[in-house]
Amino acid sequence: MENIQGMKRTHRCAELTVADAGKEVVLMGWAQRRRDLGALVFVTLRDRSGIIQVVFNSETNPELHEKALLVRSEFVLAVRGTLSLRSPEAVNKNMPTGELEVIASELRILSKSETPPFHIEENSDANEVLRLKYRYLDLRRPDLQRKLMLRHRVAKIARDYYDENGFYEIETPVLGRSTPEGARDYLVPSRVHPGKFYALPQSPQLFKQLLMVAGYDRYMQITKCFRDEDLRADRQPEFTQIDLEMSFVDVEDVIKINEGFIQRLFKDALNIDIPVPFNRLTFNEAMTRYGSDKPDTRFDMELIALSDIAKDSGFKVFSDAVANGGSVRALNAKGGGTFSRKEIDALGEVVKTYKAKGLAWIVVEENGLRSPIAKFLSEEETAKILERTKAEKGDLILFVADKDEIVCDALGHLRLTLGEKLNLIDNNRYDVLWVTDFPLLEWDEEENRWVAKHHPFTSPMDEDIEHLDSDPARVRAKAYDIVMNGYEVGGGSIRIHDQDLQRKMFNLIGFTDEQAKERFGFLLEAFKYGTPPHGGLAFGLDRLVMLLAKTDNIKDVIAFPKVQTASDLMTNAPDIVDDKQLEELFIKTVEKSE
Ligand code: AMO
Ligand code: AMP
Repeated sequence: MENIQGMKRTHRCAELTVADAGKEVVLMGWAQRRRDLGALVFVTLRDRSGIIQVVFNSETNPELHEKALLVRSEFVLAVRGTLSLRSPEAVNKNMPTGELEVIASELRILSKSETPPFHIEENSDANEVLRLKYRYLDLRRPDLQRKLMLRHRVAKIARDYYDENGFYEIETPVLGRSTPEGARDYLVPSRVHPGKFYALPQSPQLFKQLLMVAGYDRYMQITKCFRDEDLRADRQPEFTQIDLEMSFVDVEDVIKINEGFIQRLFKDALNIDIPVPFNRLTFNEAMTRYGSDKPDTRFDMELIALSDIAKDSGFKVFSDAVANGGSVRALNAKGGGTFSRKEIDALGEVVKTYKAKGLAWIVVEENGLRSPIAKFLSEEETAKILERTKAEKGDLILFVADKDEIVCDALGHLRLTLGEKLNLIDNNRYDVLWVTDFPLLEWDEEENRWVAKHHPFTSPMDEDIEHLDSDPARVRAKAYDIVMNGYEVGGGSIRIHDQDLQRKMFNLIGFTDEQAKERFGFLLEAFKYGTPPHGGLAFGLDRLVMLLAKTDNIKDVIAFPKVQTASDLMTNAPDIVDDKQLEELFIKTVEKSE
């Protein structure tokens, strides 16, 4: 193999412009492709900036031409040559350097490559498992490189913005203690304390609150968080937050500073103007209008309440649902009348995955209605439904009757399916909004107790505190989520800063004073020594970058992501360890029982 001694790179490939024509350049990078055209060999050279064409001519330099014939895909090369303008008929409009080529005068092969398991090209459709196994090769793809560069920009803009606004970046521990609530922890055994475990942080929540107690006033951190939960397209077991906390603030202060950040981010990263203030929806509005607490507001198709009409319906499914305290709601899928029976049945399967028992429907046709439920509905009832849903010829009206949460949730997901199916979503649009007034608590059916909807440190609204004992369900929280194109990209709250209220909150979610003290004693203790009112928020950095990069796969914006089963296909983590390592930790494993 040759080395680069005596050769110094002058440019990156795609940084060269027409203005550089005539210069002698030295480039280094990977051979994307070699083409042989008799007397000429063309090599496309790639580095992180992009690609450029290099030409080897047998007539002017036969020896070099011979050597160029040895080049294979992904060989690492150093090339010296003269940057030239291509003749007009040879210009390639599809590449930024398409008007240029380098006429080579020297070639060194710095490293050879085996034939890669897949061709490295923009937007490769090679099998994902293979690409993740050879992630370092996949990461050579220009589209992935652009996404990671964007990620770098986002982190940089965040640090600059919060610094300019008086935030200090302070690191918090990765090895911490396991605290209940939230998702499942990743645990780390302690060698020094046999039988004891650290937990990896699900977020720096308690530490950032303690930094407020400690008087740091404004904190931010770009930090890894770990949650052992079921993965989805927008979730990873380790992900990154832009985490922040502020003292002496109320909801509006936190909202304002973070609206400023989002505005700055879009301007600096994409040159897009996002107007402030953002729209706001209360949790209840979001649920009843969009069936989601993270609504995609880029299209309308809102849920339509029909319980008042349906309560006396001859269709028992409808009247029973209302009689049992539930509701009937509908969507009007404009133009959905053209769907086949099979397509409508597939929509029925969508709502069933969200616990709905069925999906009733009416198609408004040229001369009448097509519907499996029309026969159960009176003429008057039908007329009222069509009026309320503003049904027109060609429309498909879809109904779910059930408990209210199920109805909203099922129709909310169906709405998203229809939005895509009917092409209602403008992919060039960014809709940003706040969802506010979340309930403080929600009833956990499995555990048979109240749990904090956000986390147990979230403050109730002052005017609702009086209902904490009598009617916990109606107590709203000083919590807010930031939602972008149907994704929750951030969330936070004003915290409880009063030790008595904090203790009460722990009691409400089922901890005795002793249990609260055992688990969160350090926080309750800290609150005894002068705690400023404080609140904050955390953005999901990965999700923000996903949206800015217009991808719906979180793996695209993480250099070394994990798959659905939380494993890393490249390193094969997690894996078994040596018996000796386990012995040192006083750990024995048992077979998994089926
Ligand atoms: P929360 O749990 O809402 O709040 O997390 C904040 C944001 O982090 C992102 N996020 C994730 N991204 C990728 N993969 C995951 N598994 C994942 N889980 C969450 C989301 C979410 O909005 N300590 C509080 C914040 C606060 O109250 O200040 C917290 O962690 O975009
Ligand atoms: P059935 O009489 O059970 O065959 O139901 C008639 C229609 O009502 C079918 O299209 C079902 O999918 C639909 N349906 C059943 N249960 C519900 C429900 N809870 N909400 C809405 N539609 C339902």
